[in-house]
Amino acid sequence: MCPNVLFQFKGVMFMELDKCLYGLPNIIDARQFDLEFLDRFFKIATDMEGVAKQGNCDLLHRKTMVQLFYEESTRTRASFAAAMIKLGGQIMFATENAKLFSSAAKGETLSDTIRVLCGYGPDVIVLRHNEDGAAEEAAMFSSVPIINAGTGKNQHPTQALLDIFTILKEVGHIDGVKIAMVGDLSNGRTVRSNSYLLGKFKGVEIDFVSPKCSMMGNDVKEYLGRHCVKFQESTDLREVAPHVDVIYQTRTQKERGSDFSRDDHSLGYFTVDKEILDLMKKDAIIMHPLPRVDEIDKEVDSDPRAAYFRQASNGLYARMALLKMILTPRA
Ligand code: CP
Repeated sequence: MCPNVLFQFKGVMFMELDKCLYGLPNIIDARQFDLEFLDRFFKIATDMEGVAKQGNCDLLHRKTMVQLFYEESTRTRASFAAAMIKLGGQIMFATENAKLFSSAAKGETLSDTIRVLCGYGPDVIVLRHNEDGAAEEAAMFSSVPIINAGTGKNQHPTQALLDIFTILKEVGHIDGVKIAMVGDLSNGRTVRSNSYLLGKFKGVEIDFVSPKCSMMGNDVKEYLGRHCVKFQESTDLREVAPHVDVIYQTRTQKERGSDFSRDDHSLGYFTVDKEILDLMKKDAIIMHPLPRVDEIDKEVDSDPRAAYFRQASNGLYARMALLKMILTPRA
């Protein structure tokens, strides 16, 4: 495959950073954002936290959203819905399992569904899909902005935006941050999108901690190399925990075929528990995109360094900011 082809999806080749596809008003891929956008996003997300805490406003009065979810979701779907409502907009159509409860169950293609929904006049479509490249395909057929709410095992750009917003709020800076990304790295889309975004900043150091059967993909490591991000790989979180500002834990993606036991210490050590808390710096934080299964012990929740529920709340402010930036571009 030639180097500037990102990937092929249903016979269509997607070229790296095609501006028509990978730029506002679409949000498709974490690589599309530059530092100017990120700076503006942080400011608006901070403002949006104030708006959300004061109540609702009418900034997006008469604006409508479609939520087309072919995969399960709690946080992404609920926070986009809450963001739209808090800004005075409306949800025009929402399906939580489009594979079963839309005409996809009868064999309708994504591109046909997008073309039909656009005919009903939404202002934005939020799409989650199990296949890499689905957001690109939707954007090619849509007459309104597409927001990628997580596709395949490749991209979850709005999660990455809320994650680096959380790092900024909790740690105080992104340049120079030391982060451990832990768990099922070969199948996790959040760690991939976060690596892409962190590659935009200076002096970031990443420790990838995973069993050998689920190491970070070579494509991401090549990208980090091109962006001068230092990274190391290991199998034992206990060795890494004392040195990092952020532990970013992830669950095993069983729905994508991953299966390894965290109790099998011949594979390594990947659980955040009391032993890890005792090793961490006093001002470090623990993040997790959630949902959690067994990779963070419940006893960790009461430690002030456990930032994952605060992180989930930041998803609301981040998504309010993105909707404002997309739907009121001159505001
Ligand atoms: N973090 C995240 O994407 O969660 P949901 O799958 O619940 O949306």
